[in-house]
Amino acid sequence: MRIDKLLCDMNYGTRKQVKEHIKNGLVHVNGVAVVKPEFHVDVDKDEIKIGGKVISFAKNHYYMLNKPQGVISSTEKGPTETVIDILADENVKGLAPVGRLDKDTEGLLLITDDGKLAHNLLSPKKHVDKTYEVHLSNKLSEADIEQLEKGVDIGDEKMTLPAKVEVMDMADDEGRPVIHLTIHEGRFHQVKRMLEAVGNEVLFLKRLSMGSLVLDENLEPGEYRELTAEELSALQNKQ
Ligand code: URA
Repeated sequence: MRIDKLLCDMNYGTRKQVKEHIKNGLVHVNGVAVVKPEFHVDVDKDEIKIGGKVISFAKNHYYMLNKPQGVISSTEKGPTETVIDILADENVKGLAPVGRLDKDTEGLLLITDDGKLAHNLLSPKKHVDKTYEVHLSNKLSEADIEQLEKGVDIGDEKMTLPAKVEVMDMADDEGRPVIHLTIHEGRFHQVKRMLEAVGNEVLFLKRLSMGSLVLDENLEPGEYRELTAEELSALQNKQ
């Protein structure tokens, strides 16, 4: 890529200003001053300095995975396939899922090497909303819904925070009732334990959204894609 275009793209000035920097001997590639704006550089190999400072191209990676059932949310290699194994072709080091989904849970999982974003999204203080599609063994009563929305005792020190229940019109293929449940925490097996606390049982669980990030309907279980710039900036701005 041309050095002048690269520096413009990285907001080091307009094309004209960048040319001036080059003319004034401010731009160095591998220790040698660049004299021509059309000089080509390889951002993966060359060390580029402007005004004596090295330009960093460190870039994080962000993927939306529709986690399939049967795969674990772990970064450790082992006998069971992990969500990181699914992204092996990307060849990116340091990828980790943002939070965990149970082995039998499907749906939205953000996978990134951006530890800061992960930390912010998982921080218990931030209360990032998570919405799940939940297939149940039994219909919820009005009293159950009220209890779930107020907070239930799942055997932890504290009751769960108020949640939101939306009863869906549809039943699943096997005629089981379906709800959307939005929670603001991420406790271990939280959804399953909440439903258990009102005498029900979760038969299928799928995460639909996390904060502003919504599972792309075009992703089949096991498929993934990079986040769009808009999705990423919405997540970053939530912090
Ligand atoms: N709650 C659960 O019980 N399991 C999950 O995988 C996610 C939330």
